[in-house]
Amino acid sequence: MEGKMKNLLMLAAVGVPLALGAEQVTSPDGALVVDVDIAAGGIPTYKVDYKGKPVVLPSRLGFTLASESSRRDFSADAVKTSADALQMTSGFAITDIERGAVDETWAPVWGEEDSIRCNYNEMALKLTQTDLDRYMIVRFRVFNDGLGFRYEFPAQPHMTYFVIKEENTQFAMTGDHWAYWIPGDYDTQEYNYTKSRMSHIRDSWEQHKKESSANASSTLFSPTGVQTALQLKTDDSIYLNIHEAGVKDYPTMHLNLDEATNTFTSHLTPDATGMKGYMQTPEETPWRTIMVVDDARDILASRLILNLNEPTAYEDTSWIKPVKYMGVWWEMIAGKGDWSYTNDLASIKLGETDYTKTKPHGHHSANTENVKRYIDFAAEHGFDQVLVEGWNEGWEDWIGNSKDYVFDFVTPYPDFDLEGLNKYAKEKGVKLMMHHETSGSTRNYERHLPAAYKLMNDLGYNSVKSGYVGNIIPRGETHYSQWSNNHYLYAITEAAKHHIMVNAHEASRPTGLSRTYPNLIGNESARGTEYQAMGGNAKWHTSILPFTRLQGGPMDYTPGIFEFDLSTFSRHNNSKIASTIPGQLALYVTMYSPLQMAADLPEHYARHMDAFQFIKDVPVEWEKSVYLEAEPMDYVTVARKDKNSDEWYVGSTAGTADRDSKITLSFLDPGRKYTATIYAEAPDANTVDGQTRYKITTKTVTNKSTLKLHALAGGGYAISIKPVK
Ligand code: NOJ
Ligand code: CA
Repeated sequence: MEGKMKNLLMLAAVGVPLALGAEQVTSPDGALVVDVDIAAGGIPTYKVDYKGKPVVLPSRLGFTLASESSRRDFSADAVKTSADALQMTSGFAITDIERGAVDETWAPVWGEEDSIRCNYNEMALKLTQTDLDRYMIVRFRVFNDGLGFRYEFPAQPHMTYFVIKEENTQFAMTGDHWAYWIPGDYDTQEYNYTKSRMSHIRDSWEQHKKESSANASSTLFSPTGVQTALQLKTDDSIYLNIHEAGVKDYPTMHLNLDEATNTFTSHLTPDATGMKGYMQTPEETPWRTIMVVDDARDILASRLILNLNEPTAYEDTSWIKPVKYMGVWWEMIAGKGDWSYTNDLASIKLGETDYTKTKPHGHHSANTENVKRYIDFAAEHGFDQVLVEGWNEGWEDWIGNSKDYVFDFVTPYPDFDLEGLNKYAKEKGVKLMMHHETSGSTRNYERHLPAAYKLMNDLGYNSVKSGYVGNIIPRGETHYSQWSNNHYLYAITEAAKHHIMVNAHEASRPTGLSRTYPNLIGNESARGTEYQAMGGNAKWHTSILPFTRLQGGPMDYTPGIFEFDLSTFSRHNNSKIASTIPGQLALYVTMYSPLQMAADLPEHYARHMDAFQFIKDVPVEWEKSVYLEAEPMDYVTVARKDKNSDEWYVGSTAGTADRDSKITLSFLDPGRKYTATIYAEAPDANTVDGQTRYKITTKTVTNKSTLKLHALAGGGYAISIKPVK
């Protein structure tokens, strides 16, 4: 269970039956002021002021329904189809109000710190459509660094089942702000970010359509549609961040911009029928969140999303443990080996093909000897786990054919000794990490899940990397629909019953659900390191992800590439990665995750054991985090203290330009001496020629020390700081 609550002020309900008008709720420090009003025609709106200035102009709340029924069937009589009954955007009056405040501290199972303060004022308004005799509650929680609000539909006589055609929540901005965005897409989040004025989002549409047609699964829907978390910056340097928290039994939200009014409106991901949400009272939507701060570091420090999620649902969480791992992975991504066993495509049918009779193509990476090599190296250098992809039958035709039965998740290829390798790893003190690529067939995955998890239990696996590449089956479903979101959560809660931790790739971008289900220890859900071998990631990518994708939860970014010239080991890839070794090391600190991979090959690390030392040292469990420098896309510098020692680790990435960083180590204990090992760019380093140049120095430091370090765009620096004994 989560740690004990301190200082809890319980919500005080104040029923106010009198006529209600504009109602207000402020943040505990008074800087944020939220006003809710009913405009002419009974249209509910909210607006937000920050330090006396508007940051969100009056914005509408509500829904358009596809059908609404108060009965338990959908016969013609039961379904009200009058235009009036299908709108939940006007005709409202505020008929009740409840106010409260909370100030508590809770302990996450894992996180960027070991205790989190949750402090907000709350206002819940009952909005009644008197003509239709039905109502919803809009609940606002206002923190010092932002707010969340959600819609609640309590059980009531004239509303039971209803189908949401669209949510009509608006976010009306005060101007044409800077936006840091990726295009709205029902099926992929694996984009590089663009910084532009909001009014220029549309300019990239043609380019995105080209990228979309080249992608295995991509469904763009609007030239001004963007994904959450959307980072914005005003001309007077206020940072706004729009996202959502606790998306459960509901589709993932996108935002559509109306340039004429600078207004974003929610656009929910549709399901196969084009509908958005199938609802039954009592039910509530996820939280819609808006962070509002005037120092970019406070976006990184914000725990708004986690605080709006429910405490952990599990009684016992002792089996959930952070993981540092290596894997038979990058060698396939970079084109040295392959996931598949044979090129013999025509006859491959799950359960029917006898692979021992097919001809191996000779570069199947997940073979017993190769896996042993990784196990040996991981064991020697203190890693917890070794991921093996391509161990199971099915990879010959896993993509592009909309095939339902691709994998059964239990049958190994003939050259992968499933039991023997698990035994071998166990003897060496490491675990194998399971891999379940579903190829988007969520239907097939659910079919095999019980046997797949049972096999893991039988062999002693306690974590799985899953993936959803390609179009979802059932056909017509999209990656971020209500249906798909329910699948991802089902896979997580079923895993919990088996004490299995989940790291899902290509699943919906996270919204803090890992607080409630802490066995969700990772997600990809954004463009990861794999793209460094497929066209490259923008140099600013890892300097924007902490502001956007990571707001909802940790990312399995898979850092730690040490060989940037892929032609030196790949069969077909001549790319040179635009990065530096210090920049790769920085990611273990800047990109928070309780699950961190050392993604490169053992032989590449063996050439740079001095730099590899940082990856060996860096913890995956933290006591506290200090955000030293931050500006979206430009740079991120973070210091974190190990949960199990007095050591500190610093990481810094530079994005849009080379940069001089100056930091003071005031976070260290006063009067104590530490040895800082600094992993920095070499003076002649660049991110172009694929060479690796870095400089490691050590220095005695105290909490008064100041360090000046240079970082290349796309690079960075890393420091370990250990107390002098
Ligand atoms: C995409 C994932 O992001 C990647 O890590 C994985 O190797 C492939 N799918 C195959 O499952
Ligand atoms: Ca991916």
